[in-house]
Amino acid sequence: MNKDFAHTPDRFLSHLESLFSVTLQDAREIMFHFHEEMRRGLAGERSSLKMIPSFVSRPKGTEKGNFLALDLGGTNIRVLAVELDGKGNATLAAVSRFVISHEAMGGSGDTLFNFIADCIQSFFREQHLGMQQACDLAFTFSFPVEQRSIASGKLICWTKGFTTSGVEGRDVVALLAEALQRKDMGFIHVAALANDTVGTLVAKSYADPDCDMGVILGTGTNACYPEKIARILKYHCSGASAEMIVNMEWGGFDKLKTNRYDQVLDRASHNSGLQQLEKMVSGMYLGEIARLVIVEMIEKGLLSLPAFSEAYALTTEHLSNTAQGQDLFSDFGLAHVSAADRQTIREICRIVSTRSARIAGAAIAAVIAWMDADLESSHTVAIDGALFEKYPGFNNNMTDMLLDVFGDRAKRIKLYLVKDGSGIGSAIIGAVAASARR
Ligand code: BGC
Repeated sequence: MNKDFAHTPDRFLSHLESLFSVTLQDAREIMFHFHEEMRRGLAGERSSLKMIPSFVSRPKGTEKGNFLALDLGGTNIRVLAVELDGKGNATLAAVSRFVISHEAMGGSGDTLFNFIADCIQSFFREQHLGMQQACDLAFTFSFPVEQRSIASGKLICWTKGFTTSGVEGRDVVALLAEALQRKDMGFIHVAALANDTVGTLVAKSYADPDCDMGVILGTGTNACYPEKIARILKYHCSGASAEMIVNMEWGGFDKLKTNRYDQVLDRASHNSGLQQLEKMVSGMYLGEIARLVIVEMIEKGLLSLPAFSEAYALTTEHLSNTAQGQDLFSDFGLAHVSAADRQTIREICRIVSTRSARIAGAAIAAVIAWMDADLESSHTVAIDGALFEKYPGFNNNMTDMLLDVFGDRAKRIKLYLVKDGSGIGSAIIGAVAASARR
């Protein structure tokens, strides 16, 4: 590192800007490596993209009925009742949200699955639903799962800070079914298992046939798209349908240019060496990257702030609030912060979040180019997650990257927010699975 780089905050910030930049050339390299890793992952070769077949294709829009879904994401559990009218409209009839406790995230598998079963029981009570009538439930489980069928799959590894013991390597549908039995809810049948990206894609494509990508930009990040079965070389079964949605697990992509802050963050994390893209892009980590920069600037005397020594004390929500002009410092008990320091912190947030959005944009560009190299068709990308929904300018920064890569043709790509898509989509998947059994 050049020793002269950092004598003033301004010089430090311009050094930081170059450290976090994602140029068009970088984007082309990301796309090239994405295609390599996608090819390997689909062939069953060693790859940082797991490319997991989901056993689901896009819906027809004619699926009909009332369905239950359980959505286990990064920080919340949601139980939902969804009504499908068979004409492309999916309505959320009822939803209950529960915050996942620290004991459930870091304790035993039984504690976690008992907690999930308790949430389902509370939902039944809140919605005055009968406790005995047989019903189907679709399970959105937002972690890497080696799926074996539409309703079974083993957890490969936890992400997003979960360390629950005794679940990795086990079938999560069986674990949920056992917990439901323990809580006298054996009348609930787990009909489908889906990743949140797959739910999001299915939810949007229920009404929009142009939708061919599902992306999550929230606590974690990931994407899926419909792949021709003939190109999934590692998948040996043949089915009625010519395509199957593939859960890429793109958070694991490991061909990005990391800097010293990324390396410090990774070394201190629960899953060091894994989830490189996720750690540079997703909401769980952006606050921590910014905090590491702030701590270094404090140590160098370039910021006169006393706080920020606690890991993960600064969250992506703080960054987002700062970008909206809100006061970040009162949350940390700091009343007298100079205008110059405030401006420096705003710049750090902008630099860290812009890199995240540009990497996400380049990754979307890679998947679209894989499906349609000359961008001949229109593509709707269904996106869920607070980073995309709430972070000021995030969407624009992603769109700028798509414009850099594709020029005017980028207009054929529509980035679309799909709220609650993961739960609604898995209810649709449950509907397809349940009708296939009848
Ligand atoms: C998980 C994915 C999930 C993503 C978004 C990642 O940490 O590995 O399965 O789709 O988070 O929730």
